[in-house]
Amino acid sequence: MRIVLVGPPGAGKGTQAAFLAKNLSIPHISTGDLFRANISQGTDLGKQARSYMDAGQLVPDEVTNAMAEDRMSQADAEHGFLLDGFPRNVGQAVTLDEMLRTKGVVLDAVLDLEVPEDEVVKRIAGRRICRNDSAHVFHVTYNPPKAEGVCDACGGELYQRDDDTEETVRTRLEVYHTQTEPIIDYYRSQGLVVTISALGKVTEVTERAMEALKKSD
Ligand code: AP5
Ligand code: ZN
Repeated sequence: MRIVLVGPPGAGKGTQAAFLAKNLSIPHISTGDLFRANISQGTDLGKQARSYMDAGQLVPDEVTNAMAEDRMSQADAEHGFLLDGFPRNVGQAVTLDEMLRTKGVVLDAVLDLEVPEDEVVKRIAGRRICRNDSAHVFHVTYNPPKAEGVCDACGGELYQRDDDTEETVRTRLEVYHTQTEPIIDYYRSQGLVVTISALGKVTEVTERAMEALKKSD
């Protein structure tokens, strides 16, 4: 399947993407993770992205689209993918449509995760991520690691993202409403949007998502 995952910061996109990609045997492609990997490796791309990310603003489209296209071609897009964090504005959605058209494929669904704002703020405030693998995501209250600061899966160090400060989260939410939400209407006009509540246990949300994707297939 070819799926786009959309939802506000902290909705649980990364958390769900890890399970959904495994269940559906498709690659999980997260532009946020790709940027963070570039930052930690000190690449030029990482240097270009860093100030935008720290401010909670979108990285410019030229940079993001080129990176996404490169990663999509490595992933053999015709065989399916789960995009997390891309597209993030209507311009990127149009670019993705063009990319897929040249490959002769179309999207199957846009999975929209709905979560009230007070809940996303709580989720982001308590989030801890593993330095070794960004798919290892914890929460100090909702999904605490067995030992504080240590990843259960691999023993790696857990850290808090630089852009998870209260002020930056406010900006990221505003950017989501003004720039990213319009893509939901864009995809709705193509009949692709499946909206589910992302409240409840992680496993419950995964089941809900799998059901919704099955129906949309
Ligand atoms: P990105 O990395 O995409 O961040 P985001 O969209 O802000 O989303 P998050 O990663 O914060 O949240 P999530 O929904 O993945 O939640 P998670 O699963 O971790 O982007 C970061 C930045 O990169 C952007 O601001 C921008 O600068 C740049 N960028 C990226 N893509 C771009 C693009 N296309 N164009 C331009 N710029 C781009 O969950 C959150 C917490 O909640 C975790 O602690 C988790 O354990 C917990 N949790 C999850 N599910 C549940 C549950 N059901 N119950 C309780 N707790 C839960
Ligand atoms: Zn880990």
